[in-house]
Amino acid sequence: MLVESNALPAFGRSTQSPALSFTPAYVYDAAVLRGRVAVLRGLFGDLFRISYAIKSNPNPAVLRIMAAEADHLDASSWAEVIRALEAGGAPRAITWSGPGKRLAELRALAAPGRARGVALVAEGLDEIDDIARLSAEHGVVQDVLIRINPDHVPRGFGASMSGKPSQFGIDEAAVPEAVAHVDAQPALRLAGFHVYTGSNCLSADAIVENFANMARLFRELSRDGTRVLDKLIFGAGFGLPYHAGQADLDVAAVRAGIAPLVAGLRALPGLAGAAFVLELGRWLSGPAGALVTEVLAVKDSRGQRIAVCDAGFNNHLAACGMMGSVFRKDYPIANLTGAARPPEEVRLTGPLCTSIDALAGPLPLPRVARGDRLAVMLSGAYGLTASPTRFISHPDPVELMLDGDSLRDVSETAMNHVLP
Ligand SMILES: Cc1ncc(COP(=O)(O)O)c(C=O)c1O
Repeated sequence: MLVESNALPAFGRSTQSPALSFTPAYVYDAAVLRGRVAVLRGLFGDLFRISYAIKSNPNPAVLRIMAAEADHLDASSWAEVIRALEAGGAPRAITWSGPGKRLAELRALAAPGRARGVALVAEGLDEIDDIARLSAEHGVVQDVLIRINPDHVPRGFGASMSGKPSQFGIDEAAVPEAVAHVDAQPALRLAGFHVYTGSNCLSADAIVENFANMARLFRELSRDGTRVLDKLIFGAGFGLPYHAGQADLDVAAVRAGIAPLVAGLRALPGLAGAAFVLELGRWLSGPAGALVTEVLAVKDSRGQRIAVCDAGFNNHLAACGMMGSVFRKDYPIANLTGAARPPEEVRLTGPLCTSIDALAGPLPLPRVARGDRLAVMLSGAYGLTASPTRFISHPDPVELMLDGDSLRDVSETAMNHVLP
């Protein structure tokens, strides 16, 4: 999908900055991050607390902004819990979800320390038993939410994690047994429930249907609201229009559809004081980032123009269609250097010595020349940290934060610093 570069003033401006002396560069725009939270708060602030899924972009500079702007953080590993705390998140506003938690990490949660207050989202019965034992050893009472793997998943979700055998959560039918497990442990307290059914949904109807199912589950499992709970986490699944022909999710229609469902839950006595949490990542961070890549070589091969860029699937697995997509479809791409040139069909590859390294195209772009900088848009989520950067040992991308007029290097990785 071709993007008009006047639609990206901030990222375009960044190419003029001396700070962007190195590519590939992930450029994040602080104003967009803040703006996305503000839009959600405007629409859903009376219904939900907003929880940022750290996995979508865990860069510490991004996370500091999200810890300040959002109400809650969803960590999916112990290291993300630590990141959340270091970014200023309050322990009570952090949950730790994700399968495969290590015993040493569970022990660190139960031990006295800065993570006390972080609630565990239990993904299985053995995890409940482990945290019960470790919490008892430390003489603490640990808050636990049970992650439900619902039987029903509406159509329209990009990657679905539910309604089938899965490592995520506890099957809907087995949740009452898990509740009994938690209740039987004096060192545990059932704080609430969590559902994350699937991701990247662009249909308001499907999202409303999913919320209706979550509301039903939460109602039933709170025994019609007679059980007092602290937190109910609604995995939102809000998607982004990455590809040609797709349109923005109608978030106002989502609000209209789910408000009555939320009001119905809120009216139940045990849930009157509960925090209802809207958990999402890409919708917040995706539009705030672009991957700026430089064209290293241009050639014509058997009638096709090919531009070899310095970023491939090593730097942006998702844009190359390798993160759960059945077919690769182009992300929105702009030629930041040659925006005014006439369009010409080109295929973009990365620098990797494998034929599967296809970044985009063939697609029309303002004629691409060696040295041009291209921006892969909607790349603020599942970009750098969702990519196999060590494959073929090309330098790591830098990460830059645009905040007003300043462009700062907020990179965590160091491989680029060993360049000749
Ligand atoms: C438990 C959980 N919460 C939140 C998210 C964030 O999803 P998204 O970035 O699509 O909003 C995910 C993504 O996989 C997830 O597994």
